[in-house]
Amino acid sequence: MKIGERLQAIADMVPVGVTMADIGTDHAYLPIYLISHSIIARAIAGDIHQGPYLSAKNAVAAAQLEELISVRRGNGLEVVRPGEAETVVIAGMGGLNIIDILRSRPEVTATLKRLIVQPMIAASTVRMWLQTNGWQILNEQLVQEDGKLYQIIAAEPGESQPLEPILYEIGPLLWQSRHPLLLLHIEELIVHLRGVLAAMAGSAEAVHSAKYREFADKLKDLEDKRTCL
Ligand SMILES: C[S@@+](CC[C@H](N)C(=O)[O-])C[C@H]1O[C@@H](n2cnc3c(N)ncnc32)[C@H](O)[C@@H]1O
Repeated sequence: MKIGERLQAIADMVPVGVTMADIGTDHAYLPIYLISHSIIARAIAGDIHQGPYLSAKNAVAAAQLEELISVRRGNGLEVVRPGEAETVVIAGMGGLNIIDILRSRPEVTATLKRLIVQPMIAASTVRMWLQTNGWQILNEQLVQEDGKLYQIIAAEPGESQPLEPILYEIGPLLWQSRHPLLLLHIEELIVHLRGVLAAMAGSAEAVHSAKYREFADKLKDLEDKRTCL
């Protein structure tokens, strides 16, 4: 079975031999890949919606992996008992949804040894949540697939110092390692912020708001970082 580059980068961050819960599994591609390559021992594949849940069930049955992959329907970490999984993956969702999932089952989140997240938006909010909730970012990757750039973050329980504010946006380890896709990533962030500021520029009230100032400062910090590359 071949998986795309994005899921491959996520798979590469999953420790060998663990039980992993893939929350929002959709077709269960990740657990099927990890189990069929003997990378992990067991998996829980959870999804909130009936369609993806059934896709996952069918895919796991077709791969004859029902004994090792438990497909469950439910909201976020509701499908995982405390201590049941060491690693949780939450990929392909918005950052606020990811935080909501982690926050709403603290008794499960507290027993995890590794968290791997791939937020589609609001990655900076996810990093801030991790840093202020006892998670240390240990690995970050950028992957380009079908012309789109994805950020993947792995964290483990541990204390860390607050970051220079703009590094919540960029990713501290992507910056530190000067990831090969870093320039493209920063340019995407700049284009996005310019778009937001241009949209706000139509309203005098918006231009004088604290949000506008905050976005303008962020844009300047990103442009400064770009010149350092
Ligand atoms: C875009 S798919 C991502 C699938 C896969 N994780 C990936 O990265 O390729 C998002 C999936 O998350 C599921 N989902 C969204 N919110 C969820 C929640 N609170 N709990 C469980 N699943 C959720 C959706 O039903 C959908 O199947």
